[in-house]
Amino acid sequence: MSPEVLSFFSQLIEKETGIIYDDRNLYQLKGRIEDLCKLFNISTGEDLKKEFSQPIPNSVMRQKLFDNATNNETLFFRDPSFFKAIESFVMREVLLDMPSEIRIWSAASSTGQEALSIAMTLEELSAKVPLPPYTITATDICDKALVKAKAGRYSDFEVMRGLSEDHKKRYFQKEADGWQVKSSLANKIKYGYNNLIRSTVKGPFHIILCRNVLIYQKVEMKKQIIDTLLRQLTPDGGLLLGVGETLLGMSDGVETINIANVMFYRKSAQKNNGAA
Ligand SMILES: C[S@@+](CC[C@H](N)C(=O)[O-])C[C@H]1O[C@@H](n2cnc3c(N)ncnc32)[C@H](O)[C@@H]1O
Repeated sequence: MSPEVLSFFSQLIEKETGIIYDDRNLYQLKGRIEDLCKLFNISTGEDLKKEFSQPIPNSVMRQKLFDNATNNETLFFRDPSFFKAIESFVMREVLLDMPSEIRIWSAASSTGQEALSIAMTLEELSAKVPLPPYTITATDICDKALVKAKAGRYSDFEVMRGLSEDHKKRYFQKEADGWQVKSSLANKIKYGYNNLIRSTVKGPFHIILCRNVLIYQKVEMKKQIIDTLLRQLTPDGGLLLGVGETLLGMSDGVETINIANVMFYRKSAQKNNGAA
């Protein structure tokens, strides 16, 4: 595949999703374009580029390209300390204002394990302290991941990654080909498509998780996404990034709340001004 074809697709992906392909991972993009060619029965990357250069490109092909460009790696209770910290944050910060509803946004939810882990965390917290009802909005740019998240069905291997026996028994139903999340838990989550670089999700949310997605974005895009997310927090809300992701040097006027070494971010002036 010629460098021009790779450069055409990497630029298109970056413009539309913010995801960067550079010298370190261009080989992955090559594989993903080849997969797309196979899927649409197109002989070469050059021919695929022609399809994308039409005045009105095929929208199904475009979405498949962006689906293929994403890395959907996730697991249940990824970095377990975050879920302990969410529990403490809800008790220490969110409940103080006695909200009529707790609103949480999993802003790059992939196949749903993160949103379900939050739901299980809040279910367990509600057995310890009185909680108002809660809703979890879970969004992603990848249609394929969203279809799986909405179906709520996970393989033996997927449930082995992070789910305790107790969680499995309590919230999942064994089926012939895997595990189906029970509707009592699934009903707490609303899944939908959202592109973080042109986000249309409206808060305010008490907690927003945007974990393990900014690593694939360049600095200007990270700043834009972070700004968008901070604007959708309640005055007492907190934004969570992934392990190793930080707002240091990225956003002015941000205050951090450290709960057991997990950082929650919010705009420092927000408490006085209210959410946008
Ligand atoms: C590595 S997964 C992380 C999933 C989950 N947050 C976790 O930490 O386990 C990254 C997710 O970000 C999504 N993503 C990448 N760029 C995006 C964008 N511009 N808008 C929304 N989601 C995006 C991908 O589709 C993918 O599902």
